[in-house]
Amino acid sequence: MTPDESPSVPLEFASASSGRRVIVRGEGARLFDADGRAYVDLGATHGVGNLGANPPEVVRAVERQMHELVYLGSGYASPVRTAFLERLLSLLPPSFGSVFLSNSGTEAVEAAIKVARSVTDRSKVVAAMRGFHGRTMGSLSATWRREFREPFEPLVPGFAHVPYNDVAALEAAVDGSTALVLLEPVQGEGGIHMASEAYLRAARAACDRSGALLAFDEVQCGLGRTGRLFAFERWGVVPDLLVLAKSLAGGLPIGATVIGRGFVPRFRGSHHSTFGGSPLVCAAGLAAIEQLVRDRLPERADRLGTLGLDRLRALPPTKVREVRGLGLMIGVEFRDKVGPILAALESRGFLAIPAGATVLRLLPPLVITDAEWDAGLTAIEEVVAGG
Ligand SMILES: Cc1ncc(COP(=O)(O)O)c(C=O)c1O
Repeated sequence: MTPDESPSVPLEFASASSGRRVIVRGEGARLFDADGRAYVDLGATHGVGNLGANPPEVVRAVERQMHELVYLGSGYASPVRTAFLERLLSLLPPSFGSVFLSNSGTEAVEAAIKVARSVTDRSKVVAAMRGFHGRTMGSLSATWRREFREPFEPLVPGFAHVPYNDVAALEAAVDGSTALVLLEPVQGEGGIHMASEAYLRAARAACDRSGALLAFDEVQCGLGRTGRLFAFERWGVVPDLLVLAKSLAGGLPIGATVIGRGFVPRFRGSHHSTFGGSPLVCAAGLAAIEQLVRDRLPERADRLGTLGLDRLRALPPTKVREVRGLGLMIGVEFRDKVGPILAALESRGFLAIPAGATVLRLLPPLVITDAEWDAGLTAIEEVVAGG
């Protein structure tokens, strides 16, 4: 159980390594412990390592930028920031025009909430049950799981949760007081659940009808993971706000709130993040995007994911309730707790994470080799057969 997934572990407040396995080095999809033992990352980097543990081109770009300029405030233009933003926007539909850069997914969600509230002059945010959007107070208010929320209540007022993929419930919840509809096209933390096309289309129509903004949180499912550069491309439904983070800068801390044209001039108030958009992180982001596109990693995720889903769907139904996923974002829901499966995989040299108590979540780097992926799937098959 990783600290991110277990509500009972006091997160980063834990002292030193607190008994967890010590990982000291990485290479591609492999992580090495202090004794030099290698593990294949099937999710240990939580979807940050789409390009692997230490992508060489990102490392070189960061090294170069370190010698040029590490930090510059947003009040000044920076060529590398401009190049990064232009490249990111060039990959998105032309309806997007601006990007707010921050340092994490939760911060990028906070910015989306602020943009929507400010632009619409309304307060209600409609999010989905089982959704996860982060742990700062605004994004936590949009997050569903009770254990994450309860100790910190009261949260930010004005948030409603509707059942995921329930068109009628969504349509009923979105009204003239709604500022924002915030959805993950594929829910990650909630157990790997895919939105139906009808649901996303209904969300788009409800926002158009009511004047609310539609935001897709692609912090986990974006940037090639589902077999498309952006998950929403699968459904052809374009949001007003797109939230990205995790692997966007190849492993350096980043959050990006991509904003539709026309909204920024209507934004009242101010928003800022000191470290957001530093030249260092933008250099990493530019290198990461170039590699993602040039090496056609979304296609690779599609191919390896399809292969994986086929094999995992053949696991015995006496043990496995359901296998869900798109590309290299896969959930295997067991009938029992997933903890023993994770432990058995780790002892064989494969690191995976849960999503809730019974789901094995697979988020391997998109650069995982065919042989490593095959070995990971074989390990899962053997562990399930033996358990
Ligand atoms: C869909 C989604 N949104 C937001 C977040 C929050 O991102 P961060 O942990 O970078 O704040 C996460 C983190 O896992 C996520 O999966």
